[in-house]
Amino acid sequence: MNAQEKPYIIVLGNEKGGTGKSTLSMHLIVHLLRLGFKVGSIDIDARQGTLSRYIENRRKYIEMNGKELPISTHHAILRSNLPTILDAQEEEKKKFLSCLSSLKDKDFILIDTPGNDTFLSQLSHSYADTLITPLNDSFIDLDMLARINSETREISGPSTYAEMVWEQKKHKLLRERTQFDWIVLRNRLSSIFAKNKEEMQFLLNKLAQRIGFRLASGFGERVIFRELFLQGLTLLDLQDVGIEMTLSHVAARQELRALLEMINLAPLIERLENVS
Ligand SMILES: Nc1ncnc2c1ncn2[C@@H]1O[C@H](COP(=O)(O)OP(=O)(O)OP(=O)(O)O)[C@@H](O)[C@H]1O
Ligand SMILES: [Mg+2]
Repeated sequence: MNAQEKPYIIVLGNEKGGTGKSTLSMHLIVHLLRLGFKVGSIDIDARQGTLSRYIENRRKYIEMNGKELPISTHHAILRSNLPTILDAQEEEKKKFLSCLSSLKDKDFILIDTPGNDTFLSQLSHSYADTLITPLNDSFIDLDMLARINSETREISGPSTYAEMVWEQKKHKLLRERTQFDWIVLRNRLSSIFAKNKEEMQFLLNKLAQRIGFRLASGFGERVIFRELFLQGLTLLDLQDVGIEMTLSHVAARQELRALLEMINLAPLIERLENVS
């Protein structure tokens, strides 16, 4: 029995590629599993399949090393090959809803989306309870959220991805009479001071009010995120598999915890405790 009536859906999305969606998806999945939640995951970027392979690597690691590591119930959805757009969309929607339905006993469903605009990605956004958008600390990434005047640094308006998010918020509102929470975070932040970094912070704070998201404190550039994929491990598994924690690992774990804290888990944990 799950802790609430329906699973809480977290979507990792950004139409810009390579911003850390799959890496963060995997870390959030393992974090939630370790808190005692039942977690399902869906990879709608199945062609690239990073999250699916990450989870497959974890499964293999568990088998080969006999370790008891928590793992999510995972599904991948491939794009339809049907020739007409309407038929393809209908087939994709059916597959998506059937995936959600098969995970209805979970507390959380994490959905990893591709770094480009697809029907499945739009659909997933409209089902989010929380949307998390990681972006790299660069004006190129910011351009997906808003148009910035290069001379005055003024925000001249929302951009493609922000508009898509608004559109999907409307769909959710019509369907469920509720909106989703949108969290944006900067990933791979360098530890050295840079003017660019300061300017990004300033613009994102302004943008947060203008287009309606909450800004999380973000993640530093940390080698460990790139090292664990092949074994299917996350920062949260290091102690269990006998890898010594460094200060950088501890800091990264703290960043992850801070992100989860923004998703106010308290009511969900309370319900979980009442159920068990
Ligand atoms: N905080 C970080 N520090 C260092 N490397 C990172 C960090 N976050 C992600 N990476 C690395 O950045 C690369 C892109 O990450 P990831 O594949 O998770 O992005 P993505 O948004 O899912 O990409 P795509 O849009 O192609 O699906 C990977 O090599 C990953 O290991
Ligand atoms: Mg990815």
